[in-house]
Amino acid sequence: MMTLKPMVVSVALLCALPALARDQIDKSVDVKVDALLAKMTLQEKIGQLHQLSGREATGPESAKRASQLAEIETGNVGSMLNVKGAQDTRAMQALALKSRLKIPLLFGLDVIHGYKTVFPVPLGEAASWDLEAIERSAQVAAREASAAGLHWTFAPMVDIGRDPRWGRVMEGAGEDTYLGAQIARARVKGFQGARLGSTDRIMATAKHFAAYGAAIAGRDYNAVDMSLQQLYEVYLPPFKAAADAGVATFMNSFNSLNGVPATGSALLQRDILKGAWKYPGFVVSDWASIKEMVPHGYAADEADAAVKALNAGSDMDMEGEVYIAHLAQAVKAGKVPQKNVDDAVRRILRKKFEMGLFDDPYRFSDPKREQVVLADPQHRAAARDVARKSLVLLKNERNVLPLAKSGRRIAVIGPLADSKRDLEGGWVVSDVRGDVVTLLQGIRGQAPGAQVSYAAACAPGCANADGFAAAVDAAAKADVIVLAVGETWDMSGEAKSRTDIGLPGRQTELFQRLKATGKPVVAVLFAGRPMIFNEIADQADAILYAWFPGSEGGNAVADVLFGDYNPSGKLPATFPRNLGQIPITYAQTMTGRPVVDEKNIVYRSAYIDSPNTPRYAFGHGKSYTEFGYSGLRLDKATLRQGESATLSFELENKGKVAGTEIAQLYVRDMVASIVRPVKELKGFAKVQLQPGERRRVTFTIDPDTLSFFNGQLKWGAEPGAFKLMVGSASDDIRLDTTLQLQ
Ligand code: BGC
Repeated sequence: MMTLKPMVVSVALLCALPALARDQIDKSVDVKVDALLAKMTLQEKIGQLHQLSGREATGPESAKRASQLAEIETGNVGSMLNVKGAQDTRAMQALALKSRLKIPLLFGLDVIHGYKTVFPVPLGEAASWDLEAIERSAQVAAREASAAGLHWTFAPMVDIGRDPRWGRVMEGAGEDTYLGAQIARARVKGFQGARLGSTDRIMATAKHFAAYGAAIAGRDYNAVDMSLQQLYEVYLPPFKAAADAGVATFMNSFNSLNGVPATGSALLQRDILKGAWKYPGFVVSDWASIKEMVPHGYAADEADAAVKALNAGSDMDMEGEVYIAHLAQAVKAGKVPQKNVDDAVRRILRKKFEMGLFDDPYRFSDPKREQVVLADPQHRAAARDVARKSLVLLKNERNVLPLAKSGRRIAVIGPLADSKRDLEGGWVVSDVRGDVVTLLQGIRGQAPGAQVSYAAACAPGCANADGFAAAVDAAAKADVIVLAVGETWDMSGEAKSRTDIGLPGRQTELFQRLKATGKPVVAVLFAGRPMIFNEIADQADAILYAWFPGSEGGNAVADVLFGDYNPSGKLPATFPRNLGQIPITYAQTMTGRPVVDEKNIVYRSAYIDSPNTPRYAFGHGKSYTEFGYSGLRLDKATLRQGESATLSFELENKGKVAGTEIAQLYVRDMVASIVRPVKELKGFAKVQLQPGERRRVTFTIDPDTLSFFNGQLKWGAEPGAFKLMVGSASDDIRLDTTLQLQ
């Protein structure tokens, strides 16, 4: 106890220390870093910049394995990815500690939505708009991952995604900058805790810097071409939010941006990130993205790529092996200044000190702790909580939902109804896997009094219709059909761009056959992206969008189907009607020929074969109750620069059951020096109300709410009128007023 006490006190104190004292603490780390740096040879420094994938090193005997182990022992490796588990990380760390300077390794892994306990895919979690639940999800992931010897996750992905063809929309928080920035902050806090070094948290990574989500035509790894104004205003803020939240590292991206590969972009990494934002962490490249500057046609060869990346501010080479192969020579030849290498090494060493690895390199790798933590039942409870918050009720005709738990015959049908793997989605990384609760299991478990029949109808992907007749048969004997269809787990994620984002295979046909029975159809859709499913949207009686909901997915969906949880999720991305509308966002820029009346679109900014409006708008999501909005008040109609105003309104639960509404604040700058979006999300409030309960909800309109990046990329608010809108979705504005800025 005596030895523990001072430590506890100092940790508590650290959190409360003023900025000045924090600087001093950072400086004490810098002193240690500098002392170590002074002892390092050039080769040892470059070793710190080299990150190696551990698949071979921890795999069966092979020549490659032997040479990798030797490299680690020599001090030629600073970090590893894809090594996990207390035992394997200990073994690799022991090798690094045999090197001359005994510098410990950092172990990183893509812990994207949980480690052993699988949480909903990040886009799904974003639909909860629940920052506490999202933070808790990242915290649980960190707790499990850190117990498995990991120090670092390559998450959160904070790329804005406005093109659902791009498979990686699954990994982010959707299309919106404001929501994305809030979620970025929550995830960083969840992974890292208040400060680095606690053994149940890990370092986070803001990725992919930058603009990766805007790949032309939604094709992964493709080029990006965008104005700096758009970059600053839409794509960078979630990164800035992550940096402000203290994210330990950044990862650059595979795409080129306006002709320069992000990995070689000094504008992004040196000028913006490390310059303007004064970011103290380090930048890891994306997987081999440094040497990919050769096929980009931006570097003549791998040696040239190494020079360009390091000089541009890319500190660590993930699995590309070009720094370790070429940097020493480049420094000797004067192509890379020594100070650039020192700066990169310093940034990496600083994190190793902050993580406490020089005090105890094995502090994360404890097999006993690993066993206990990975078995903690509270993790499943957290997964179920956020999973049900992430579900979005898109449609509910004649209140077909919620279903009664007893006395009814429920036909559970569809290729995803009893699938475990598909409910997890992509990026499932632990070898120790928790059991997934399927939808069928969830329904059976929660409605023992119902007669539940099941027919898969087809395998995931639904290539053939051989099982359709049996499914129709089961449906005909039931009172209600629950149809589980969607993408398979591997249809979204990295390198999973699609030109057709409809329901794969023959699932639409299956729906039509079931609908023809005349029985009500409740469609539960699983996917990692917004899909297009017009037949179901038109004809299903109810639709619940479930994303890939994770280990507790079946229970979470059943909670909503039976009304034990009143759905509250809202779409974090626009669902288009057809592919031709993509890329699509609610926050579209105003035009000179807007559609004012859908019946008159001649020479308007419109399509002659489709409305402009989406199938489901950003922010849309229904509840089992109705919410009323009234009594809008703005405390001052005119605002001086620098002042804040208060906007409030009354929210009422007008239905018969308790429910949660996510009320949204949108703003439009009516006239500005840069043409502005028709509306932009600037606030939201998640409010739980009992039947009949009313509550006044308040938003603060501060200078940032009204600001944007002008033509000179300067952040500020311009005088004039602003329309303030409050509503239940971006296309369901209930109240509005005007504010004048002087
Ligand atoms: C992905 C990154 C990921 C990395 C390491 C890359 O292919 O783009 O997001 O962190 O691999 O697995």
